Amino acid sequence: MTVTASETTTDTRVQAIFTDVLDSLLGIIRKHQVTWEEYRVATEWLTQAGNQGYEIPLMLDVFLSTTVDDVNFAAQGGTECNVEGPFYVPDAQLLERPYVLPQREAEPGEHLVFSGTVRSTDGSALAGALVDVWQASAAGEYSNIHPTVPEGNLRGRMTTDASGRFDFETIVPPPYAIPDGGATAQLLKALGRHLIRPGHIHFKVSHPACRALTTQIYFEGDPFIDSDVVGAVKDSLVIGLVRNGEAETRCSYDFVLTPNDKL
Ligand code: DHB
Ligand code: FE
Repeated sequence: MTVTASETTTDTRVQAIFTDVLDSLLGIIRKHQVTWEEYRVATEWLTQAGNQGYEIPLMLDVFLSTTVDDVNFAAQGGTECNVEGPFYVPDAQLLERPYVLPQREAEPGEHLVFSGTVRSTDGSALAGALVDVWQASAAGEYSNIHPTVPEGNLRGRMTTDASGRFDFETIVPPPYAIPDGGATAQLLKALGRHLIRPGHIHFKVSHPACRALTTQIYFEGDPFIDSDVVGAVKDSLVIGLVRNGEAETRCSYDFVLTPNDKL
């Protein structure tokens, strides 16, 4: 669905969707009797957002991306999807066993062992599945995005063994605030909402025989689990952290992929 200046033929998809968008907006103006002053504020806000580099994609992410994801990747019996978010970097380091996400010497944060399996919806183990992981540091900062975090930090790819298992060492990711100071944050504050996502680890899990899965895992007891700014949390993706005193914190998740022939 591309629109170019020289295009003269009607794009029926654009026509169908935009007609509905416009109908909704005009309905809202009538319903709320929007004033010229409010219209002016909205226009200025959009202009500002457009001039702030990343703010329009951030706003679309916050308000719309979870629903686009759900429409396109309904679970079909496998693990539920969850938005990729803005911080994925392809081609992260391919790790060797034992898997440890690349980190700084004395990486701050609570040490975590994450273990899991990758299976198909028919129950069979998926050996050699690729598990691509990325997450924020204990300061809520992503590598390759935040300049003080070394490139590739807390990002890595690994494969499952013959029985579909993997495990890796990392740190527990903290709740994370989306960028403050721009048009998106200004709107969220006007709505009485905070800017915070609960702590989460991002995953892309793939195997040649199955549909690739992009999802996130969250943790029980996180104070922001019920008020994610992006509205992405799904109950099936929330897991417990098992703490064995100070010594060790563990968690596990079994990912289930849909075979290509079941799509
Ligand atoms: C968004 C998603 C994330 O996973 C994240 O860490 C920050 C922002 C987002 O969808 O805007
Ligand atoms: Fe994230």
